[in-house]
Amino acid sequence: MAGDQRWFVIGFVGFLVGIILNHFLPWLLRIGVVPKGSFGWPLLGETLAFLKPHPSNSIGSFLQDHCSRYGKVFKSHLFFSPTVVSCDQDLNYFILQNEDKLFQCSYPKPIHGILGKVSMLVAVGDTHKRLRNVALSLVNTTKSKPEFLNDVETAALHILDSWKDMKQVIFWEESRKFTFNVIVKQVLGLTPEEPQTTEILQDFLTFMRGLISLPLYIPGTPYARAVQARRRISSTVKAIIEERRRRRGHLGDHNSKKNDFLEILLYVDTLSEDEKISFVLDSLLGGYETTSLLMSMVVYFLGQSNSALEQLKLEHQSIRSMKKKGEFLNWEDYKKMDFSQKVMNEALRYGNVVKFVHRKALKDVKFRDYIIPSGWKVLPVFSAVHLDPNLHANALQFNPWRWESDDQTCKKFTPFGGGSRSCPGSELAKVEVAFFLHHLIQNYRWKVEEGEQAMAYPYVEFHKGLAIKLQPLKNQFGSG
Ligand code: HEM
Repeated sequence: MAGDQRWFVIGFVGFLVGIILNHFLPWLLRIGVVPKGSFGWPLLGETLAFLKPHPSNSIGSFLQDHCSRYGKVFKSHLFFSPTVVSCDQDLNYFILQNEDKLFQCSYPKPIHGILGKVSMLVAVGDTHKRLRNVALSLVNTTKSKPEFLNDVETAALHILDSWKDMKQVIFWEESRKFTFNVIVKQVLGLTPEEPQTTEILQDFLTFMRGLISLPLYIPGTPYARAVQARRRISSTVKAIIEERRRRRGHLGDHNSKKNDFLEILLYVDTLSEDEKISFVLDSLLGGYETTSLLMSMVVYFLGQSNSALEQLKLEHQSIRSMKKKGEFLNWEDYKKMDFSQKVMNEALRYGNVVKFVHRKALKDVKFRDYIIPSGWKVLPVFSAVHLDPNLHANALQFNPWRWESDDQTCKKFTPFGGGSRSCPGSELAKVEVAFFLHHLIQNYRWKVEEGEQAMAYPYVEFHKGLAIKLQPLKNQFGSG
């Protein structure tokens, strides 16, 4: 080859390499693979297998099978969308920390239809931020207030007192009564005796049944009933708001000022009327079922762990011994309930009150060697991390003492979600459970009926409602 030609060829090859690098290097650097997995059937994909009920303290056969076949991160087709399922602690954490940047909350359509557009649980962007700021400030001002703490304790004593002549109770029902009474008092200032409370409870139960139904707006279906129930709750809440305004405005009645969320909401000008009503519904929805499940999990697991129960009793007896007879618990007492915190953490880990949350990828996201394609659904599965034996030694044992070390696993423990959507009510829920336990363990011993099991449907339910046999202890209710 003549010299000129050689330089021409070298120049041309260099030019081509330049173009290739220029065009394809960014793509090459981003390269990764969509996680392995299978899409299953057309349309439904693997949704039915994913939703197949299993004990809530297990990961279920679907995740078991898919993780061992494809690894902790795999692709599937769920809820009518291509999906990446993550059972990996680091990826879950990464997803939660990147809300609105790389991922976004994305609940299925029927949930939107029932909750409405301005519900905090489904809202995104600025609307979500506005609603969330109000929630955080309400919870922060409430959680340590004597009025709230006294209400929680009074509600607990009320339930426990009603057991006096009973040999057995269905605990899950009792815990739901308790958490509903607490939240409806805290949010709307209503007591269990008021007719509006019963009305709201009935509508609320219908509303919740609709959240897990097929979105068919045909009269009589659970979905249609739920939408109507939501409308009725909205009008009840609207009527309560109007009544409060009327009293303040026309009658100048400032003496009956209540201590509930609604009272503060009335004066919040960053929220519209609809957003205020939605806010009330979100608080009821967020605070009722989950908290009663945590209580039930604690009672269920403590019923099988005598050593944990004994240590818990010592903690609460020591707190009680510092108080006068009948004196209410306060925030400082709650702060001393260190072992109770560990028991609750362990019940959240082993019981898995919330199995997973719904997200979608806002753009192509690279994580390790994976690419999560833009628009795909992403499901961080908390239960798989909670029960991962590589993260928790003897993961299938209830062991509150494991929470004694304050390591990375604790930091990435997300039973209340994480990042900018983490649960604003977590502290309220824990106070409720801790105060209820305070009186329960000092007044009763209990035994869980044989064969009871919490099942993930994936919303958790107790098979038989958690029937417990009661044995009253001496000095009953000397503690309240
Ligand atoms: C044991 C009890 C509770 C558990 C396990 C729990 C769990 C969770 C989880 C996992 C999330 C995150 C959802 C997501 O990322 O998509 C969440 C959000 C939320 N929770 Fe809770 N929760 C509990 C109690 C409460 C209570 C007592 C309230 C209200 C009084 C509440 C109100 C909310 C609200 C409003 C959200 C939405 C937050 C947002 O999107 O910014 N929760 N909860």
